[in-house]
Amino acid sequence: MLLPRRRNLAWLVVLQIGTIPVDPPVVLAPMAGVTNRAFRRLCRRYGGALLVSEMVNARSLVEGSPRSAQMTAFDADETTRSIQLYGTDPRVIAEAVRIVIDRGAQHVDLNFGCPVRKVTRHGGGAAVPARPRLLAAIVGAAARAAGPVPVTIKMRLGLDDERLTFHAAGRAAADSGAAAIALHARTASQMYSGSARWDAIGELVAEIQGVPVLGNGDVWSPADARALLDRTGCAGVVVGRACLGRPWFFADLAAEFAGAPRPSAPRLGTVAATIREHAELLAEHAAPEYAVLEIRKHIGWYLTGFPVGGSTRRNLMACTSLSDLSARLDDLDDSIVLPDRERDQPRGTRRGPYPVTIPAGWLDADADAPPESRLAELAISGG
Ligand SMILES: Cc1cc2nc3c(=O)[nH]c(=O)nc-3n(C[C@H](O)[C@H](O)[C@H](O)COP(=O)(O)O)c2cc1C
Repeated sequence: MLLPRRRNLAWLVVLQIGTIPVDPPVVLAPMAGVTNRAFRRLCRRYGGALLVSEMVNARSLVEGSPRSAQMTAFDADETTRSIQLYGTDPRVIAEAVRIVIDRGAQHVDLNFGCPVRKVTRHGGGAAVPARPRLLAAIVGAAARAAGPVPVTIKMRLGLDDERLTFHAAGRAAADSGAAAIALHARTASQMYSGSARWDAIGELVAEIQGVPVLGNGDVWSPADARALLDRTGCAGVVVGRACLGRPWFFADLAAEFAGAPRPSAPRLGTVAATIREHAELLAEHAAPEYAVLEIRKHIGWYLTGFPVGGSTRRNLMACTSLSDLSARLDDLDDSIVLPDRERDQPRGTRRGPYPVTIPAGWLDADADAPPESRLAELAISGG
């Protein structure tokens, strides 16, 4: 019997996170300094359905920090409203979950992957999954506070190759009410270097019953997204760096999962218009000077693969105001098309590896007490 190719079975790949259907089964990874309201609005335009916010520090939110409040605000037309929280104290996380749901969140993700040394050395970030009982206490408290709103987690393989934590942490999360488990298939020590080890995602899929496992790491092209699903059996993919300077990647992914032809590669004119709009959207929620600083970070990503020289890039990055940026963008040649072979160029950080430090005795006891130092809660980014 001839089996239809999987390409034609797109309808079978339906990701359900609690009450939320995610179609196609693709989630925008939380990225500090990137996945704010402005960027999420651009991604929505291209069909991005589940777009996770930048990480919000739960304690700062509970203590009323204006910045955290701003980070948990949504556009009026935003669905599904998704917030990532970071914290190490179950009571604080529960309170933060109640606050964000009060503000309209329909999905809460918990970050257990931060590799930054100044956090792990105090027992925070990627050090938490090394204590599955603590992780279970945090996830359980969050899930109880969230009621019907799904709570998911995102974690790494472990601290380093000798200290893999994802097996026990995955089981603990599943048993404590997590609605999905995303695995960035690198260790904290790898940071963003080397390759994501997709085989480990397959291992977790085989181990966890009844809770969808999402694969994350090194999806750069639509074909990569499909390959990650096919090779590991995971229920969906989480895509981070491939979306930097490329909100239209969601349309490429939707076409891939629908078995439709890929949309044409963008022209430089479209890219220039998107940069301009991105900057204006950033300025809607921040001082114009800040929006200028922020957009400079995105310009290199937007221009990845375009045959424009270093001097053009430097010229754009040197913009001093939004109107100045707009004038400089006007000078770009609209008709240049991104060459096909450049469409899926990797972008974003590759930094690492870096040794991971955890508190003395951290692995000896499977305790559920949160880390004593508040410095464990300093996580700024990463996962
Ligand atoms: C700039 C940047 C910021 C990030 N911030 C977060 C974060 O706040 N929370 C988190 O869980 N992961 C964070 N990450 C990790 C990504 O969500 C993702 O796990 C990682 O980039 C691997 O996926 P990728 O290969 O698709 O990029 C960040 C990554 C980058 C590049």
